[in-house]
Amino acid sequence: MEQTLSIIKPDAVQKGVIGKIIDRFESNGLKIAAVKKLQLSECDAKAFYAVHKERPFFGELVKFMISGPVVVMVLEGENAVIKNRDLMGATNPKEAKAGTIRADFAESIDANAIHGSDSKENAKIEIEFFFSKREIY
Ligand code: CMP
Repeated sequence: MEQTLSIIKPDAVQKGVIGKIIDRFESNGLKIAAVKKLQLSECDAKAFYAVHKERPFFGELVKFMISGPVVVMVLEGENAVIKNRDLMGATNPKEAKAGTIRADFAESIDANAIHGSDSKENAKIEIEFFFSKREIY
């Protein structure tokens, strides 16, 4: 069974669609192996998105990710990384296919409702960033 990390971002938490987003995962064969709601610090957000630190949008991304609480989850299932990315839709909600999470719940490329690991390797790193082994079932 494969695992991947998902973050419900501050815009979606603020809108009150945590349950609707989790339902997309559970209805499509992804189990919630771990879940918690937390407020990222600036330091957390900079470290989590360090791979983007040279990109022009880095400052805005960090500011947005600390603008309110997030929900972090470990999703588990067959081909979880790809399945999660299909369910999320394109990074820019304007380009996301109808019926995807970002098409339905996101406003802009910054406030895009959700983050998901882009590879199995990054999933492992991102899961370890947020969860200890004993928190994942
Ligand atoms: P996420 O999957 O969380 O990974 C990095 C985030 O940076 C991305 O979603 C977007 O919310 C944000 N972002 C802002 N501008 C861009 C851009 N031009 N290209 C990619 N990501 C962007």
